[in-house]
Amino acid sequence: MLSEALLVSAPGKVILHGEHAVVHGKVALAVALNLRTFLRLQPHSNGKVGLNLPNTGIKRVWDVARLQLLDTSFLEPGDVTTPTPEQVEKLKEVVDLPEDSANHKGLAVLAFLYLYLSICRKQRALPSLDITVWSELPTGAGLGSSAAYSVCLAAALLTACEEIPNPLRGGESTSRWATEDLELINKWAFQGERVIHGNPSGVDNAVSTWGGALRYQQGKISPLKRPPALQILLTNTRVPRSTKALVAVVRSRLLKFPEIVAPLLTSIDAISLECERVLGEMAAAPAPEHYLVLEELIDMNQHHLSALGVGHASLDQLCRVTMAHGLHSKLTGAGGGGCGITLLRPDLELPDVEATKQALTSCGFDCWETSIGASGVSVHLDTSLDTPVQQALGGL
Ligand code: MEV
Repeated sequence: MLSEALLVSAPGKVILHGEHAVVHGKVALAVALNLRTFLRLQPHSNGKVGLNLPNTGIKRVWDVARLQLLDTSFLEPGDVTTPTPEQVEKLKEVVDLPEDSANHKGLAVLAFLYLYLSICRKQRALPSLDITVWSELPTGAGLGSSAAYSVCLAAALLTACEEIPNPLRGGESTSRWATEDLELINKWAFQGERVIHGNPSGVDNAVSTWGGALRYQQGKISPLKRPPALQILLTNTRVPRSTKALVAVVRSRLLKFPEIVAPLLTSIDAISLECERVLGEMAAAPAPEHYLVLEELIDMNQHHLSALGVGHASLDQLCRVTMAHGLHSKLTGAGGGGCGITLLRPDLELPDVEATKQALTSCGFDCWETSIGASGVSVHLDTSLDTPVQQALGGL
C-alpha cells in the first residue's frame, strides 16, 4: 500500500453520434471534454475509510475493522468481476446503507464501496484512507460525470494498492499510465458504472480513461487518429433525467416495434461511420463543405433520437434557437433533457456565437463554448492543481 497522497483527474465526454445505438452493438463516436473530475486519496492509519463528495454534500466514514468483518465473499476475489444486480443488492444489505441507494447520491456511495472492497481485498488488510472527489461536470446531464467518478476511483485505488505503478516521475506535474494499466483502470471503472447505471455500454468510461476522440463498438475502442479540433457550444438544458430509464425507453420501443426501430439504429450507425470518414478527411485537408456534411449528420441524428423516444421539449427548443442563428444541434448522451451540442463552424464571427449563447441563456440553459479532445485519466503532483472548482470549494 502506497503511503503518499494521490491526486488524479479524469475528463467528462460528449458523444458526437451513436448514443443509445451503441447499447445495441452499433458504433459511437465519443470525445473527451475539457471539464474534469478530480480525486484526492490520502492514506492514513486511523482505522477509518472516508468518502467526501463536496459537490453533492456526501460525507461518509466507515470503520475499516467493521468492513473487514463483513462477509464480502460474494464479490469473488481475483480478476475484475461484473457486479450482478443480486451482488449490488447484497452489498447494500451488508454495508447497511441508510440513505435511499437508488438515488444518484446513494449509487455514488455504493459504487465507491464496491470498488474499494473489490480492489483492496487483495491487500492483507483493508487500507485506511480518505477520498475526496470534486468535479467541474454537472451531474445527470449526459456529460459522463459518473464515468469520470468511476475512472478516478479505479485509478486511485489501483495505484494506492500498488496493482499499477504511480507513473508520476520526479519533476513532472502531470503524468498518464501505460496502456496496460489504462486497460485495467477502464475495466474496473466499467464495473463502477455498472453499479450506477445497470447496463451501460462502456463508452463513457472508455473515453474518460483514454481521452481524445474514439470510436467505440461492443467494448472495442479505436482512437481516432489526429481528430480535427472542433469547437462546439455545449448547452445544459438543466432538465434532469436518468440514463438508466432512457436506455430502458429505447429497449422497450425496440421490442415493441422491431421493424421500425432496428432500421433507425442501423441508420444511426451509418451516421457515425460517415462522421468518422469526414473527420478523417478533415484531418488531412479541412474544407468548408466538411462542416456542411457534419451539420446534415447532426440534424438527421437528432430526428432519429427523437423517434427513439429520447427527445424532450427543452431539446427541441435548443435546436430551434440555434437554427434561428444558422447553427445545427443535437442532444448528446442519454437525452430526455440533459445536454445538447451545437457545431461552431470556423467561419462564424464572434458576435454570432455570443448572440446564440445569449439566446440559449435566456431560455434558462447553461452554455459553454469549448473544444473537444482533452487528455484522459491523469495523475498530478498534489500541489499542481488549482482548479476553479477547487477554489470554489475552499482549496480542498
Ligand atoms: C450515455 O452517455 C450514452 C448512452 O448510449 C448509454 C450508454 O452508452 O451506456 C445513452
